[in-house]
Amino acid sequence: MSTTAEIKIDGQTYEFPVITGTEGEKAIDISKLRDLTGHITLDFGYKNTGSTKSAITFLDGEQGILKYRGYPIEELAEKASFLEVAYLLIYGELPSAETLEKFQKDISMHTLIHEDMKKFFDGYPSKSHPMAQLSSLVCSLSTFYPESLEANQSDEEKDLTIIKMLAKMTTIVAFIYKKSLGHPLIYPKNKYDYITNYLWMTFGQRTEDFEPNPVVVSAMNKLLILHADHEQNCSTSTVRIVGSSDCNLYASISAGISALWGPLHGGANQAVIEMLEKIKADGGDTDKWIAKAKDKNDPFRMMGFGHRVYKNFDPRAKIIKKACDDILESLGINDPVLEIAKKLEQAALTDQYFIDRKLYPNVDFYSGIIYRALGFPSEMFTVLFALGRLPGWIAQWKEMRSNKEPIGRPRQIYVGDVDKHM
Ligand code: SDX
Repeated sequence: MSTTAEIKIDGQTYEFPVITGTEGEKAIDISKLRDLTGHITLDFGYKNTGSTKSAITFLDGEQGILKYRGYPIEELAEKASFLEVAYLLIYGELPSAETLEKFQKDISMHTLIHEDMKKFFDGYPSKSHPMAQLSSLVCSLSTFYPESLEANQSDEEKDLTIIKMLAKMTTIVAFIYKKSLGHPLIYPKNKYDYITNYLWMTFGQRTEDFEPNPVVVSAMNKLLILHADHEQNCSTSTVRIVGSSDCNLYASISAGISALWGPLHGGANQAVIEMLEKIKADGGDTDKWIAKAKDKNDPFRMMGFGHRVYKNFDPRAKIIKKACDDILESLGINDPVLEIAKKLEQAALTDQYFIDRKLYPNVDFYSGIIYRALGFPSEMFTVLFALGRLPGWIAQWKEMRSNKEPIGRPRQIYVGDVDKHM
């Protein structure tokens, strides 16, 4: 198996090392390319370009494989809690019972946000998008914890910042939702675990004690686990490149939230439900909408379909689709858009356009139907994606900082005007 690759330019041959990952992936290390050849590579959207070596998440788009720290996503979704998976991603090992108990306790001690943060909500227009609020509120955490701005925090200081980020995210997300309804805020209760506490602050009532529906708690754990990390996707790459400038964790996560908002990325889960609702309102003619998705002159895209890396099924979509049926049945909900989604999926999977382009349902195709069944409005769906992705972003930021990776600064090919004068 070759450990070098040759590039021939103007009759001269240059040799570059080939590195192989622990799952057998191969890369040509071109870190010396420009020094040796005066050339750079050009790769719009980084479709063929690796930005780092990472030990956190592995996925194989052709085989539909996804693993967190070597554990198959199917096992973690079935057997672990979201907080166990968060610890696994951030610290590299599944926590022992005692470690998990301390992790949960440490987080419980930091779920309150500074009372002055509530003033920010008064400045947002009543219908402002929750992702805009989330991104600005998370970045504003850095104003209350100036010690987190220190680029070279000790491991203990970094761990405390991580605990605060995980803890306060649930409160901020719940407060954003309550504010959108004009409801009084519900404060965290230390007696609840991570997910139950989030559901208490979101759906609890101020007077009664809260008996969470175990189906809802289990569904939230599973959904957040499935969203927890996904190697170097758009928002994670954003978190890493912002963090590479020695920027603090809160601001780096805030940048990731903004990147996730886009409808081609995490914003797709909201766009899927809006698409399904539009198809339902239009009479449910899925063939008509499939034809629109294939028409190059029509800007309509089948949201929740296709993926940069998965050219086979998205293993998360498979798990979510099954969970969708189970949860709706258990909650006694019959959502007509679920039937439209299934009809769309069946039609697309047998359509040559989708087959040729290897377009399959992705994680966003069915998740919104579950979030809606759990009582969330579609504007909150991407916020829930961010709540799930948070431990992955933290783990990737921590890995990049620990590896002392250089500041991210891609090159370009200039194609603008030359030699102009005033
Ligand atoms: C997420 O990267 C990650 O890991 C992301 C994510 C994560 O966990 O972080 O998995 C989460 O972002 C999932 C993806 C959510 N987005 C959507 O569902 C939006 C709809 N899908 C797309 O727009 C698209 O499929 C992307 C953005 C997901 C991927 O786009 P690529 O890899 O850049 O592929 P492309 O846009 O170049 O499309 C290739 C071809 C094109 O047709 P041709 O020009 O070859 O004729 O496929 C077509 C596209 O027009 N195509 C679609 C389509 N997606 C791709 N046509 C119709 N409907 C679609 N959804």
